[in-house]
Amino acid sequence: MSKDLTVNIFGLRLKSTLILGSGPLSYGAEGMIRAHQAGAGAVATKTIRNKAACNPYPHIIKSTASSLINAEKWSDISGVRWVKEEIPKAKEAGVVVIASIGHTPEEVENWIKPVDEAGADMIELVFYREEAIVSMTLRAKDSTDKPVIVKISPNWVDPLQTALEALEHGADGITAMDSVGPVLRIDIRTKKPLLGSEKGYGWLTGGAIKPIVLRYIAEIASRTDRPIIGLGGVMTASDAVEMLMAGASAVGVCSALILKGVEYLSRLNHGIKKLLAELNYATIASVSGAALPYLYNEEILDKFEFYFEESLCTACNICVQVCPYQARKLENKKMQLDEDKCRYCGLCASICPTAALKGV
Ligand SMILES: Cc1cc2nc3c(=O)[nH]c(=O)nc-3n(C[C@H](O)[C@H](O)[C@H](O)COP(=O)(O)O)c2cc1C
Repeated sequence: MSKDLTVNIFGLRLKSTLILGSGPLSYGAEGMIRAHQAGAGAVATKTIRNKAACNPYPHIIKSTASSLINAEKWSDISGVRWVKEEIPKAKEAGVVVIASIGHTPEEVENWIKPVDEAGADMIELVFYREEAIVSMTLRAKDSTDKPVIVKISPNWVDPLQTALEALEHGADGITAMDSVGPVLRIDIRTKKPLLGSEKGYGWLTGGAIKPIVLRYIAEIASRTDRPIIGLGGVMTASDAVEMLMAGASAVGVCSALILKGVEYLSRLNHGIKKLLAELNYATIASVSGAALPYLYNEEILDKFEFYFEESLCTACNICVQVCPYQARKLENKKMQLDEDKCRYCGLCASICPTAALKGV
Protein backbone atom coordinates (compact mmCIF):
# COMPACT_ATOMS: atom_id res chain seq x y z
CA MET A 1 0.00 0.00 0.00
CA SER A 2 2.62 2.53 -0.98
CA LYS A 3 0.31 4.55 -3.21
CA ASP A 4 1.30 8.19 -3.34
CA LEU A 5 -1.28 10.71 -2.11
CA THR A 6 0.86 13.80 -2.69
CA VAL A 7 -0.11 16.37 -5.30
CA ASN A 8 1.85 19.08 -7.05
CA ILE A 9 -0.49 21.95 -7.51
CA PHE A 10 0.23 25.63 -8.27
CA GLY A 11 3.93 24.90 -7.79
CA LEU A 12 3.38 23.55 -4.29
CA ARG A 13 3.74 20.00 -3.12
CA LEU A 14 0.86 18.96 -0.84
CA LYS A 15 1.25 15.92 1.42
CA SER A 16 -2.30 14.82 0.56
CA THR A 17 -4.81 15.51 -2.16
CA LEU A 18 -7.39 16.34 0.53
CA ILE A 19 -7.99 20.04 1.23
CA LEU A 20 -10.18 21.36 4.02
CA GLY A 21 -12.72 23.66 2.32
CA SER A 22 -13.55 27.06 3.76
CA GLY A 23 -16.06 26.62 6.58
CA PRO A 24 -16.53 26.35 10.33
CA LEU A 25 -13.62 23.94 10.86
CA SER A 26 -11.20 26.57 9.60
CA TYR A 27 -12.58 29.21 11.96
CA GLY A 28 -9.03 30.19 12.96
CA ALA A 29 -5.46 28.90 13.28
CA GLU A 30 -6.43 26.34 15.92
CA GLY A 31 -8.93 24.59 13.63
CA MET A 32 -6.60 24.80 10.66
CA ILE A 33 -3.70 23.24 12.57
CA ARG A 34 -5.98 20.41 13.75
CA ALA A 35 -6.93 19.65 10.13
CA HIS A 36 -3.27 19.81 9.03
CA GLN A 37 -2.29 17.37 11.78
CA ALA A 38 -5.18 15.07 10.84
CA GLY A 39 -3.85 14.82 7.27
CA ALA A 40 -5.12 17.76 5.19
CA GLY A 41 -2.78 18.70 2.33
CA ALA A 42 -3.92 22.33 2.57
CA VAL A 43 -6.55 24.30 4.46
CA ALA A 44 -8.77 27.16 3.23
CA THR A 45 -9.50 29.81 5.85
CA LYS A 46 -13.07 30.79 6.65
CA THR A 47 -13.83 33.67 4.23
CA ILE A 48 -12.15 36.91 5.32
CA ARG A 49 -14.11 40.16 4.88
CA ASN A 50 -13.91 43.76 6.11
CA LYS A 51 -16.14 43.12 9.11
CA ALA A 52 -16.38 40.04 11.30
CA ALA A 53 -19.66 38.15 10.77
CA CYS A 54 -22.49 37.92 13.24
CA ASN A 55 -24.36 34.67 12.59
CA PRO A 56 -28.07 33.89 13.15
CA TYR A 57 -29.03 31.10 15.61
CA PRO A 58 -29.18 28.29 14.75
CA HIS A 59 -27.10 28.38 11.59
CA ILE A 60 -26.05 24.77 10.82
CA ILE A 61 -28.51 21.86 10.64
CA LYS A 62 -28.35 18.27 9.42
CA SER A 63 -30.76 17.82 6.49
CA THR A 64 -30.25 14.16 5.49
CA ALA A 65 -27.74 11.56 6.71
CA SER A 66 -25.03 13.03 4.50
CA SER A 67 -26.18 16.61 3.92
CA LEU A 68 -26.14 19.85 5.86
CA ILE A 69 -27.89 23.18 5.44
CA ASN A 70 -26.21 26.28 6.81
CA ALA A 71 -26.86 29.96 7.12
CA GLU A 72 -23.36 30.65 8.38
CA LYS A 73 -21.85 33.86 7.07
CA TRP A 74 -18.18 34.59 6.51
CA SER A 75 -15.51 34.60 9.24
CA ASP A 76 -16.47 35.88 12.68
CA ILE A 77 -12.81 36.86 13.19
CA SER A 78 -11.67 40.25 11.86
CA GLY A 79 -9.37 40.50 8.84
CA VAL A 80 -6.81 42.28 11.00
CA ARG A 81 -6.66 39.34 13.39
CA TRP A 82 -6.38 36.85 10.51
CA VAL A 83 -3.40 38.73 9.18
CA LYS A 84 -1.67 39.46 12.48
CA GLU A 85 -2.34 36.22 14.34
CA GLU A 86 -4.22 33.39 12.67
CA ILE A 87 -2.42 33.01 9.32
CA PRO A 88 1.09 33.42 10.83
CA LYS A 89 0.24 30.90 13.59
CA ALA A 90 -1.06 28.38 11.05
CA LYS A 91 2.02 28.89 8.87
CA GLU A 92 4.32 28.41 11.84
CA ALA A 93 2.67 25.03 12.46
CA GLY A 94 3.32 23.99 8.85
CA VAL A 95 -0.18 24.43 7.43
CA VAL A 96 -0.42 25.09 3.68
CA VAL A 97 -2.79 28.07 3.85
CA ILE A 98 -5.37 29.05 1.25
CA ALA A 99 -6.67 32.49 2.24
CA SER A 100 -10.32 32.78 1.26
CA ILE A 101 -11.29 36.41 0.56
CA GLY A 102 -14.67 37.84 -0.40
CA HIS A 103 -17.17 39.02 -1.32
CA THR A 104 -16.70 42.38 -3.05
CA PRO A 105 -13.98 43.92 -5.22
CA GLU A 106 -13.16 46.46 -2.50
CA GLU A 107 -12.67 43.75 0.10
CA VAL A 108 -10.42 41.76 -2.18
CA GLU A 109 -8.34 44.91 -2.75
CA ASN A 110 -8.18 45.46 1.00
CA TRP A 111 -7.07 41.98 1.99
CA ILE A 112 -5.10 40.42 -0.83
CA LYS A 113 -1.75 42.07 -0.01
CA PRO A 114 -2.05 41.68 3.78
CA VAL A 115 -2.90 37.94 3.54
CA ASP A 116 -0.08 37.47 1.06
CA GLU A 117 2.38 39.20 3.41
CA ALA A 118 1.02 37.22 6.36
CA GLY A 119 2.24 34.08 4.58
CA ALA A 120 -0.80 32.66 2.77
CA ASP A 121 0.34 30.17 0.13
CA MET A 122 -2.63 30.69 -2.19
CA ILE A 123 -5.59 33.04 -2.43
CA GLU A 124 -9.16 31.91 -3.07
CA LEU A 125 -11.64 34.52 -4.31
CA VAL A 126 -15.29 34.07 -3.31
CA PHE A 127 -18.05 36.17 -4.86
CA TYR A 128 -21.81 36.12 -4.97
CA ARG A 129 -22.00 38.34 -8.07
CA GLU A 130 -20.89 36.37 -11.08
CA GLU A 131 -20.27 39.47 -13.19
CA ALA A 132 -17.56 40.73 -10.79
CA ILE A 133 -15.30 37.74 -11.41
CA VAL A 134 -13.30 38.98 -14.40
CA SER A 135 -12.41 42.38 -12.98
CA MET A 136 -11.61 40.80 -9.63
CA THR A 137 -9.39 38.16 -11.13
CA LEU A 138 -7.46 40.85 -13.00
CA ARG A 139 -7.10 43.01 -9.90
CA ALA A 140 -6.09 40.06 -7.74
CA LYS A 141 -3.44 38.96 -10.22
CA ASP A 142 -2.06 42.52 -10.24
CA SER A 143 -1.75 42.53 -6.46
CA THR A 144 -0.06 39.22 -5.72
CA ASP A 145 2.35 36.67 -7.17
CA LYS A 146 0.69 33.90 -5.16
CA PRO A 147 -1.64 31.54 -7.04
CA VAL A 148 -5.15 32.98 -7.35
CA ILE A 149 -7.99 30.45 -7.33
CA VAL A 150 -11.56 31.47 -8.20
CA LYS A 151 -14.33 29.66 -6.32
CA ILE A 152 -17.42 29.18 -8.45
CA SER A 153 -21.00 28.90 -7.30
CA PRO A 154 -23.65 26.49 -8.61
CA ASN A 155 -26.20 29.25 -8.04
CA TRP A 156 -24.92 31.50 -10.82
CA VAL A 157 -26.64 31.69 -14.21
CA ASP A 158 -23.62 30.18 -16.00
CA PRO A 159 -20.92 28.89 -13.65
CA LEU A 160 -19.06 27.11 -16.45
CA GLN A 161 -18.74 30.22 -18.60
CA THR A 162 -17.71 32.29 -15.59
CA ALA A 163 -15.04 29.76 -14.63
CA LEU A 164 -13.66 29.82 -18.18
CA GLU A 165 -13.63 33.63 -18.21
CA ALA A 166 -11.77 33.70 -14.90
CA LEU A 167 -9.16 31.32 -16.34
CA GLU A 168 -8.92 33.37 -19.53
CA HIS A 169 -8.18 36.44 -17.43
CA GLY A 170 -5.38 34.85 -15.45
CA ALA A 171 -6.92 32.78 -12.65
CA ASP A 172 -4.47 30.00 -11.78
CA GLY A 173 -7.20 27.52 -10.97
CA ILE A 174 -10.81 26.95 -9.96
CA THR A 175 -12.46 25.69 -6.80
CA ALA A 176 -15.69 23.97 -7.75
CA MET A 177 -17.94 24.57 -5.92
CA ASP A 178 -19.75 26.54 -3.25
CA SER A 179 -23.01 25.44 -1.55
CA VAL A 180 -26.34 25.12 -3.39
CA GLY A 181 -29.27 27.37 -2.53
CA PRO A 182 -31.04 29.07 -1.07
CA VAL A 183 -33.00 26.12 0.35
CA LEU A 184 -35.55 25.67 3.13
CA ARG A 185 -36.45 23.16 5.86
CA ILE A 186 -39.44 23.47 8.23
CA ASP A 187 -40.13 22.03 11.69
CA ILE A 188 -43.60 20.46 11.30
CA ARG A 189 -44.37 20.84 15.03
CA THR A 190 -43.59 24.56 15.34
CA LYS A 191 -44.28 25.30 11.64
CA LYS A 192 -41.15 27.48 11.72
CA PRO A 193 -38.03 27.23 9.55
CA LEU A 194 -35.27 25.10 11.08
CA LEU A 195 -32.67 27.81 10.51
CA GLY A 196 -32.65 31.16 12.25
CA SER A 197 -31.75 33.21 9.17
CA GLU A 198 -33.96 35.73 7.43
CA LYS A 199 -36.86 33.70 5.90
CA GLY A 200 -35.13 30.60 7.31
CA TYR A 201 -33.21 30.07 4.11
CA GLY A 202 -29.84 28.32 4.01
CA TRP A 203 -27.32 26.60 1.76
CA LEU A 204 -27.15 22.91 0.98
CA THR A 205 -23.85 20.99 1.16
CA GLY A 206 -22.66 17.40 1.48
CA GLY A 207 -23.70 14.23 -0.35
CA ALA A 208 -26.76 15.75 -2.02
CA ILE A 209 -24.71 18.17 -4.13
CA LYS A 210 -21.99 15.81 -5.39
CA PRO A 211 -23.56 15.07 -8.81
CA ILE A 212 -23.97 18.80 -9.52
CA VAL A 213 -20.33 19.45 -8.67
CA LEU A 214 -19.04 16.45 -10.65
CA ARG A 215 -20.77 17.68 -13.77
CA TYR A 216 -19.19 21.13 -13.56
CA ILE A 217 -15.75 19.72 -12.80
CA ALA A 218 -15.93 17.47 -15.85
CA GLU A 219 -17.07 20.40 -18.01
CA ILE A 220 -14.26 22.68 -16.84
CA ALA A 221 -11.59 19.97 -16.86
CA SER A 222 -12.38 19.04 -20.43
CA ARG A 223 -11.62 22.64 -21.44
CA THR A 224 -8.52 23.49 -19.40
CA ASP A 225 -5.34 21.96 -17.99
CA ARG A 226 -5.28 24.34 -15.06
CA PRO A 227 -5.89 22.76 -11.63
CA ILE A 228 -9.40 22.33 -10.24
CA ILE A 229 -10.06 21.76 -6.56
CA GLY A 230 -13.16 19.53 -6.56
CA LEU A 231 -15.22 20.51 -3.54
CA GLY A 232 -18.79 19.47 -2.80
CA GLY A 233 -20.32 16.25 -1.58
CA VAL A 234 -17.21 14.20 -0.89
CA MET A 235 -18.23 11.94 2.00
CA THR A 236 -16.11 8.83 1.30
CA ALA A 237 -12.81 7.81 -0.29
CA SER A 238 -14.76 6.55 -3.28
CA ASP A 239 -16.38 10.01 -3.69
CA ALA A 240 -12.88 11.55 -3.65
CA VAL A 241 -11.65 9.20 -6.38
CA GLU A 242 -14.80 9.95 -8.41
CA MET A 243 -14.06 13.67 -8.08
CA LEU A 244 -10.49 13.11 -9.30
CA MET A 245 -11.66 10.98 -12.21
CA ALA A 246 -14.03 13.78 -13.27
CA GLY A 247 -10.97 16.01 -13.64
CA ALA A 248 -10.17 17.47 -10.21
CA SER A 249 -6.48 17.81 -9.36
CA ALA A 250 -7.16 17.89 -5.62
CA VAL A 251 -10.22 17.18 -3.50
CA GLY A 252 -11.87 19.57 -1.05
CA VAL A 253 -13.89 18.34 1.91
CA CYS A 254 -16.07 20.30 4.29
CA SER A 255 -19.41 18.74 5.37
CA ALA A 256 -18.01 15.21 5.80
CA LEU A 257 -15.52 16.52 8.35
CA ILE A 258 -18.17 18.57 10.16
CA LEU A 259 -20.35 15.44 10.46
CA LYS A 260 -17.59 12.92 11.21
CA GLY A 261 -14.85 15.02 12.83
CA VAL A 262 -11.53 16.19 11.35
CA GLU A 263 -9.87 12.90 12.35
CA TYR A 264 -11.93 11.35 9.55
CA LEU A 265 -9.29 12.86 7.21
CA SER A 266 -6.88 10.06 8.07
CA ARG A 267 -9.54 7.43 7.24
CA LEU A 268 -10.22 9.19 3.94
CA ASN A 269 -6.49 9.29 3.12
CA HIS A 270 -6.17 5.61 3.96
CA GLY A 271 -9.30 4.76 1.93
CA ILE A 272 -8.02 6.67 -1.13
CA LYS A 273 -4.68 4.81 -0.92
CA LYS A 274 -6.51 1.48 -0.80
CA LEU A 275 -8.69 2.41 -3.76
CA LEU A 276 -5.71 3.59 -5.82
CA ALA A 277 -4.06 0.22 -5.21
CA GLU A 278 -7.24 -1.66 -6.10
CA LEU A 279 -7.78 0.34 -9.29
CA ASN A 280 -4.10 0.20 -10.25
CA TYR A 281 -3.15 3.84 -10.06
CA ALA A 282 0.23 4.80 -8.61
CA THR A 283 -0.40 8.52 -8.13
CA ILE A 284 -3.19 11.06 -7.72
CA ALA A 285 -2.11 12.77 -10.94
CA SER A 286 -2.70 9.57 -12.90
CA VAL A 287 -6.34 9.27 -11.67
CA SER A 288 -7.11 12.92 -12.36
CA GLY A 289 -9.34 13.14 -15.42
CA ALA A 290 -9.37 9.36 -15.97
CA ALA A 291 -13.12 9.44 -16.72
CA LEU A 292 -12.99 12.34 -19.17
CA PRO A 293 -12.40 10.29 -22.35
CA TYR A 294 -15.61 8.36 -21.58
CA LEU A 295 -17.83 11.35 -20.92
CA TYR A 296 -18.23 12.79 -24.37
CA ASN A 297 -18.93 9.56 -26.18
CA GLU A 298 -21.37 10.01 -29.04
CA GLU A 299 -22.06 6.31 -29.05
CA ILE A 300 -25.36 5.65 -27.26
CA LEU A 301 -25.87 2.08 -26.07
CA ASP A 302 -28.50 0.25 -28.07
CA LYS A 303 -28.35 -2.75 -25.78
CA PHE A 304 -28.44 -3.18 -22.03
CA GLU A 305 -28.31 -6.57 -20.38
CA PHE A 306 -28.77 -7.80 -16.85
CA TYR A 307 -26.51 -10.31 -15.16
CA PHE A 308 -27.69 -12.11 -12.04
CA GLU A 309 -25.33 -13.91 -9.64
CA GLU A 310 -27.51 -16.08 -7.44
CA SER A 311 -24.78 -16.75 -4.87
CA LEU A 312 -24.58 -13.02 -4.08
CA CYS A 313 -28.35 -12.52 -3.73
CA THR A 314 -29.63 -12.05 -0.18
CA ALA A 315 -33.29 -12.05 -1.29
CA CYS A 316 -33.76 -8.56 0.13
CA ASN A 317 -36.30 -8.00 -2.64
CA ILE A 318 -35.39 -4.36 -3.17
CA CYS A 319 -34.98 -4.86 -6.94
CA VAL A 320 -38.60 -6.07 -7.09
CA GLN A 321 -39.85 -3.29 -4.86
CA VAL A 322 -38.27 -0.43 -6.86
CA CYS A 323 -39.26 -1.59 -10.34
CA PRO A 324 -41.71 1.09 -11.56
CA TYR A 325 -43.06 -1.32 -14.23
CA GLN A 326 -43.56 -4.41 -12.01
CA ALA A 327 -41.27 -6.34 -14.32
CA ARG A 328 -39.28 -8.24 -11.67
CA LYS A 329 -40.12 -11.25 -9.54
CA LEU A 330 -37.86 -13.06 -7.10
CA GLU A 331 -38.97 -16.48 -5.93
CA ASN A 332 -36.64 -18.73 -3.96
CA LYS A 333 -33.71 -16.59 -5.14
CA LYS A 334 -34.72 -17.27 -8.73
CA MET A 335 -34.79 -13.96 -10.56
CA GLN A 336 -37.46 -13.50 -13.17
CA LEU A 337 -37.76 -10.62 -15.59
CA ASP A 338 -40.85 -9.90 -17.68
CA GLU A 339 -39.11 -8.57 -20.78
CA ASP A 340 -42.32 -7.14 -22.20
CA LYS A 341 -42.82 -4.99 -19.13
CA CYS A 342 -39.15 -4.08 -18.54
CA ARG A 343 -37.97 -0.74 -19.98
CA TYR A 344 -34.32 -1.44 -19.04
CA CYS A 345 -34.16 1.70 -16.90
CA GLY A 346 -31.47 0.00 -14.79
CA LEU A 347 -32.69 1.10 -11.35
CA CYS A 348 -32.96 -2.48 -10.01
CA ALA A 349 -29.29 -3.13 -10.78
CA SER A 350 -28.13 0.24 -9.52
CA ILE A 351 -29.86 -0.30 -6.15
CA CYS A 352 -28.82 -3.93 -5.55
CA PRO A 353 -26.78 -3.81 -2.30
CA THR A 354 -24.60 -6.85 -3.08
CA ALA A 355 -24.13 -6.38 -6.85
CA ALA A 356 -25.92 -9.72 -7.39
CA LEU A 357 -27.82 -7.94 -10.14
CA LYS A 358 -25.74 -5.97 -12.60
CA GLY A 359 -26.49 -4.08 -15.76
CA VAL A 360 -23.97 -4.00 -18.57
C1 LIG B 1 -21.26 25.58 7.74
C2 LIG B 1 -20.59 25.95 6.46
C3 LIG B 1 -19.95 27.18 6.33
C4 LIG B 1 -19.32 27.54 5.14
N1 LIG B 1 -18.68 28.73 5.05
C5 LIG B 1 -18.02 29.06 3.91
C6 LIG B 1 -17.28 30.26 3.81
O1 LIG B 1 -17.15 31.04 4.76
N2 LIG B 1 -16.69 30.55 2.62
C7 LIG B 1 -16.76 29.71 1.53
O2 LIG B 1 -16.19 30.02 0.49
N3 LIG B 1 -17.44 28.55 1.62
C8 LIG B 1 -18.07 28.21 2.76
N4 LIG B 1 -18.74 27.02 2.84
C9 LIG B 1 -18.84 26.17 1.63
C10 LIG B 1 -17.77 25.08 1.59
O3 LIG B 1 -16.47 25.62 1.50
C11 LIG B 1 -18.00 24.13 0.41
O4 LIG B 1 -17.91 24.87 -0.79
C12 LIG B 1 -19.35 23.45 0.46
O5 LIG B 1 -19.67 23.10 1.78
C13 LIG B 1 -19.38 22.19 -0.40
O6 LIG B 1 -18.49 21.20 0.10
P1 LIG B 1 -18.99 19.97 1.03
O7 LIG B 1 -20.15 19.33 0.34
O8 LIG B 1 -17.78 19.09 1.17
O9 LIG B 1 -19.41 20.56 2.33
C14 LIG B 1 -19.35 26.63 4.03
C15 LIG B 1 -19.96 25.39 4.19
C16 LIG B 1 -20.56 25.03 5.37
C17 LIG B 1 -21.18 23.67 5.50
